[in-house]
Amino acid sequence: MRVDIINKKEDIVPLRLAGKTVVVIDVLRATSTMVAAFENGCREVIAVSTPEEALALKKQLGAEGVLGGERKKQKLPGFDFGNSPREYTLEKVNNKILIFTTTNGTILINSCIHGQETLIASFRNAVSVVGSLRNKEEVLLACAGTRGTFSLEDNLLAGYLSLLISRKYHDSLLSEGCKSAIKLYKLLEKDITGILEKTPHGHGLAVLGLEKDIGYCLEKNKVTIVPRVKTRAFYPRVQL
Ligand code: MLT
Repeated sequence: MRVDIINKKEDIVPLRLAGKTVVVIDVLRATSTMVAAFENGCREVIAVSTPEEALALKKQLGAEGVLGGERKKQKLPGFDFGNSPREYTLEKVNNKILIFTTTNGTILINSCIHGQETLIASFRNAVSVVGSLRNKEEVLLACAGTRGTFSLEDNLLAGYLSLLISRKYHDSLLSEGCKSAIKLYKLLEKDITGILEKTPHGHGLAVLGLEKDIGYCLEKNKVTIVPRVKTRAFYPRVQL
């Protein structure tokens, strides 16, 4: 198994995704929120790029659709949820279809549709994501980053996943990028929450009173679900 990493969504080259299993990573907070929604019974997440597309889809879906996501980390007008994973409770999302749009995460998912398979990763489902990579030949750890720049939290999850992969699959061949991410993860793992609270993204969440999201998104291996893109017609539809 060959494993590589990209550190921002702008580095995706669709033609190079053919035959690859793409693991989508947006720790703060899109992929963590999607995992939370599925954990609480959400049936499907439709990943759309713009709020306008989301609102149009909601009109088609009616009561079974709920709208979630953010711009500038905040809930959008007319939406049911923002992008805090803690909002997506059983009472609110069980059996619903979530129409979801975020600044980076859902755009990355839309860019990954040329991969052979696309999986959704967070710290909360990391071990299960790695378990589902058995027999894959080419794996790409695709970090969303933030508006065209590197995000430490995404690279740390890629490092953690790379470490788990290297321990589980003895035939794995990690790129230099993955090996560096492991080194960084090992260096910072003892105080990831404290470190992320000081990054621009973490600080931005704290300013909005959302600092609890950081701790939540960094909890490891709380669930065994692995959401994946099942249908790609019009929009990527993510299911369990
Ligand atoms: C994104 O997709 O850019 C993020 O999930 C932003 C956020 O923290 O809400």
